[in-house]
Amino acid sequence: MSQPKIEVFADGAAVARAALQFWIERHSRGGPFWVSLAGGTTPKELYRMLAEQPLSWADLHLLWGDERFVPHDHADSNYRMVKETLLDRISGVGEAHPWKILGDAEASAEDYEQVVRTRPQGVDLCLLGMGDDGHTASLFPGSKGLEEQQRWALANWVEKFDSHRLTLTYPYLNLSREVLFLITGAGKARALREVLRDGQHPAAGVRGLEGTFFFVDKAAAAELGG
Ligand code: 6PG
Repeated sequence: MSQPKIEVFADGAAVARAALQFWIERHSRGGPFWVSLAGGTTPKELYRMLAEQPLSWADLHLLWGDERFVPHDHADSNYRMVKETLLDRISGVGEAHPWKILGDAEASAEDYEQVVRTRPQGVDLCLLGMGDDGHTASLFPGSKGLEEQQRWALANWVEKFDSHRLTLTYPYLNLSREVLFLITGAGKARALREVLRDGQHPAAGVRGLEGTFFFVDKAAAAELGG
């Protein structure tokens, strides 16, 4: 696996601006641009700024790296977050594939497996965040999803939430051409050091075939040293 490239920025806004330029540069190369989106809160500013850009949205093909098993209009839905910050403010996206919330989490995962299998070469850009426990997507420490080597989409039981989370797995995430982590805030400083210096935690297991980038703010980088 290639060594990750770490870039430290002053604050979350600077991380979002850098991620925007990263995306624009790749998206502007022309042709289909497949992206697996990160959920949570960190990428929201990036998605909002993206919506203002004069990009060819017909070239954009979207997957979601993970999803909570909640209706699309639920406050915790990653689909709803992307819809509000990006999709409602642009038009003509090539393809957008949110996870379908079906009768049970396993049915949703089996459905998304078929979706992802239509893109067997992986995505061009995999956007990811990281929790303060070092999870990424919905691959949480100690969860069975970390061991999955066959399936590309999974309903992963997460003990601390006492519920399933829907997530892409390492076999698919690691087909990505490039991976870009967006990580901000002092609460993530310890986990980030342990990921980057010790290879610990789920976030350490994702690498892009052509590059892995960590765009972090000073607060999250506080324990990385010189
Ligand atoms: C999710 C995300 C998850 C997220 C991290 C960081 O569904 O929550 O996909 O992996 O990236 O939990 O979340 P924040 O950006 O909100 O800190």
